[in-house]
Amino acid sequence: MEEKEISQAVIGRLPRYLRYLGELKDEGIERISSQELSELMKVTASQIRQDFNNFGGFGQQGYGYNVEYLYHEIGRILGLDRRHNFIIIGAGNLGRALGNYINFERRGFIFKGMFDTNPQLAGREVRGVRIMPMEELEQFLQDNDIDIAVLTIPKTGAVEVAGRLVKNGVRAIWNFAHVDLNVPEGVQVENVHLSDSLMKLSYNTSRYMKENERDSETA
Ligand code: NAI
Repeated sequence: MEEKEISQAVIGRLPRYLRYLGELKDEGIERISSQELSELMKVTASQIRQDFNNFGGFGQQGYGYNVEYLYHEIGRILGLDRRHNFIIIGAGNLGRALGNYINFERRGFIFKGMFDTNPQLAGREVRGVRIMPMEELEQFLQDNDIDIAVLTIPKTGAVEVAGRLVKNGVRAIWNFAHVDLNVPEGVQVENVHLSDSLMKLSYNTSRYMKENERDSETA
C-alpha cells in the first residue's frame, strides 16, 4: 500500500489504536465496526474513519474491520514489523526503570547496552545487560547494529553525547534530557517530558475545580 505524508497527530493516535486492537485480538474478537471501536475508545467513529482513510481505509467491508489485519497493518506502519536494537545512556533511576521494562521487547525493541559516566556503575547489570563506561561507546556502536539511543542523562552532557551517537550511526534518539538536540537531517529525535503530561493534568484538574466552585456559588 502506498503511504502518503501523514500528520504527526494521526501518527500519535496509532499506538492507542494498536493497544485496543491488541486487546480485542487477545479476546478472540475477529471483526469490529468503527462505531464499536468508537464506543470502546471514546473517540468519534468519524475520527476513526478519517484516521484510517490516511492509510487507504484498511478495507472495511460489510461488517467492520478485520481486527487481526488492522492490528498488523498499524504495527507495520509504526515500524513494529522489524526489530529495533536500542541502548540507554544514563543508568540512573530513569534509565534503569526503562531498561527494566520488558514490554519493549514484546514490541520488537531489544535492549542491547547501557552506558554511564559513573565508574561505580561499570560492570553492573540491568536485566542482564552490562553497564559500560562511556569510553566504550564508539566501539560498541561500531560492533553492534543499534537503531535507537535513549538519553536519560542531565541536560549538561546531552548535546555532546547526542553528537557522538549521531557520528557513529545512531539515527533515532529518544530524548528524556531537558534540552533540545540539534541533529542533522535524517536523524529522528523524540523528546519526552513527563512533566508536560502532569501539567496538562494539573490544568484540567484546576479547571474542573474552578467550574465546580462557580456552580456551587450560583446554586
Ligand atoms: P539520576 O541522577 O538517577 O541518573 C542520571 C545518570 O546519568 C547518573 O547515573 C549519571 O552518572 C549519568 N550521567 C550523567 N551525565 C552523563 C553523561 N554525560 N554520559 C553518561 N551518563 C551520564 O537521574 P534520573 O532520575 O535517572 O534522571 C535522568 C535525567 O532525566 C535527569 O537529568 C532528569 O532531569 C531527566 N528526567 C527527565 C524526565 C522527562 O520526563 N523528560 C523525567 C525524569 C527525569
